[in-house]
Amino acid sequence: MKKRVTKAIFPVAGLGTRFLPATKSIPKEILCLVDKPLIQYAIDEARDAGIEEFIFVTSRGKGALEDYFDGAPQLEQSLKAKGKDDLLDILMKSTMDSGEIAYVRQREALGLGHAVWCARRLIADEPFAVILTDDVIASEKPVLKQMVDAHENTGGNIVAAMEVAPNKASSYGLLDIKEDMGSLVSVKGMVEKPKPEDAPSNLAVIGRYILTPQILNNLDTQERGAGGEIQLTDAIAKEIENSDNVYGFRFEGQRYDCGSKAGFLQATVAYGLARGDLSAEFMDFLVEAVESRRAAQ
Ligand code: UTP
Repeated sequence: MKKRVTKAIFPVAGLGTRFLPATKSIPKEILCLVDKPLIQYAIDEARDAGIEEFIFVTSRGKGALEDYFDGAPQLEQSLKAKGKDDLLDILMKSTMDSGEIAYVRQREALGLGHAVWCARRLIADEPFAVILTDDVIASEKPVLKQMVDAHENTGGNIVAAMEVAPNKASSYGLLDIKEDMGSLVSVKGMVEKPKPEDAPSNLAVIGRYILTPQILNNLDTQERGAGGEIQLTDAIAKEIENSDNVYGFRFEGQRYDCGSKAGFLQATVAYGLARGDLSAEFMDFLVEAVESRRAAQ
């Protein structure tokens, strides 16, 4: 019988330099879309997909993240006393139960593959998910849940994939497609940030993965890849050679790259417009702002 996916790794040890100076003192994952930190979107998605153990790979300066998940007894008391049940509910949803969250340190930012490898002892011998909080995906069915359901049929390794504009493809890990079955593609190769002339397709890997523990063994060699970093893509590519069980999954949903300023702004607008309590006022503002900007050009 296939093992259920109950553990997820959240690599949050990167330096977040694209958001300096904010990230000098605030972890990127605490930045908010409207009023919810990026990390909370990722946790909610993981929980909806059946994840029970949440493993954070952190680094120096990420203490605010650990505090974020703690109980806040004073605040709870105060909201309770004032009968502010809606706010209390929101607060309690951000509090993690004792023992369901674990932190491991990545001492040096040596790359995403290295960050995932740092969690190897907590994964042991079962499939696991990896979620990059930078990628926020608005969808009816949470994307990790879409992938867990697909994994029940395929087993093996599944990476979330989406078509990107050919001129942007070189910023991603790209899939070399063996067989295109629609939402699922079987994969015969994978390459991280190739030169445009070496791109095998424009089907790009984005930040959701379901992986087998063999990937962690593949990372043991600590080989450096693109950009001098230890790349998760390379460890997955090795698994294609070893066991031929890697699939790309075209998810349903709108993905925002919140690791970039433009993507973060787009997500802020989209999530702001989607909020019933804000949309009317926000839309009026946006229309006016765009019109006056156009007029000034
Ligand atoms: P990025 O490539 O976006 O790097 O990492 P970054 O440091 O977060 O941001 P910039 O580019 O400096 O602005 C993708 C994901 O991998 C994690 C990051 O935290 C992010 O979630 N990561 C990356 C690590 O945990 N460790 C690393 O060594 C590298």
